[in-house]
Amino acid sequence: MASGWFTNDGPLVKELELGIADYLRVRHCVLTANGTVALQILSHALELTGEVIVPSFTFVATPNAMKWQGLDPVFCDIDPRTLNIDPESCEALITERTSAILGVHLWGRPCDIPRLRSVADRHGIHLIFDAAHGFGCGHDNALIGNFGDAEVFSLHATKAFHCGEGGAITTADDGLAERLREIRNFGFVATDTTTRLGINAKMPELSAALGLANLEALAESISRSRRVIECYQAGLRTVPGIEIRPCTAPRHNFHYAVAELDQGSSGISRDRLVEVLESENVLARKYFFPGCHKLAPYHDESCDSLPHTEFAAERSLILPAGPEMSPALVDSVCELLGDIVSNAEHLSLLSNSSRPRIA
Ligand SMILES: Cc1ncc(COP(=O)(O)O)c(C=O)c1O
Repeated sequence: MASGWFTNDGPLVKELELGIADYLRVRHCVLTANGTVALQILSHALELTGEVIVPSFTFVATPNAMKWQGLDPVFCDIDPRTLNIDPESCEALITERTSAILGVHLWGRPCDIPRLRSVADRHGIHLIFDAAHGFGCGHDNALIGNFGDAEVFSLHATKAFHCGEGGAITTADDGLAERLREIRNFGFVATDTTTRLGINAKMPELSAALGLANLEALAESISRSRRVIECYQAGLRTVPGIEIRPCTAPRHNFHYAVAELDQGSSGISRDRLVEVLESENVLARKYFFPGCHKLAPYHDESCDSLPHTEFAAERSLILPAGPEMSPALVDSVCELLGDIVSNAEHLSLLSNSSRPRIA
């Protein structure tokens, strides 16, 4: 506030870009107003055309950003073991109209990058990543942010590292970074001079200030989130049919408690479980239900069924997690889940209004 400089590539945006590039050990970081517009300006800067292959098991912003650019998102199934885009199914979808593969590192678990890279190289197309969930995740020698032609982070308030609202594009490509900086500022390269079509995708200084404070606190915040996931894993060990998906990459932000529900052993459907939790003020979410290929504006377009996506979308739920959650609170959620599963037979029959309180 005291500086009087609120936007337009201010000193705090520059400082945060350098801070993020240093943290991720990547050559360039270009901050934007949000992750969706970052995906849009990246596809514009790469001059993508025709079709872009995307997973359906993602947030709808991934295909929407492509569609908004006049591109056709082509939905690809996931690998049921990782829930990330399946490179083999991806290759089968490539046509002469395909200009890129857009992988998503779902919940910060890295895609099969080497196999996607070789598919993209074999067909001479771009490989980019929606790394919305992936800040602080990856391998010891290369964090997410260093893969493909470029990667896009969402810095929305719900993310492990955030600016309230914001986005970041990371790349090792000097020319691409320069184009992105021009595009995010209406195409300006100097006063009164534009070189290309641009838009307003700038991050304001206030968001960057929040980001700088959060970046400083990130290590502590990740270690608190890690404790939350470990508590869930321990607390759910004795609850049949509910499992926390492990964080397999060597580096992780532990931001999402991704649970999978097996209705056969728990006795309750995922949807009913979410309802019962909500009635107890525990806000679990069905991610990413029902799969983007079944959402407007995509559900009318011809798309083969995506069996692994549909299976995952019917049994995944995200439990409340993150650095603000105390281990005691996690224990009480686990206890509640245990009670629900023990009473599954009654709860599956009763509607919310007629259900007795779980003591
Ligand atoms: C996978 C994925 N992609 C893109 C986005 C869009 O990011 P933003 O909300 O910053 O526009 C999100 C947001 O949650 C997301 O989860």
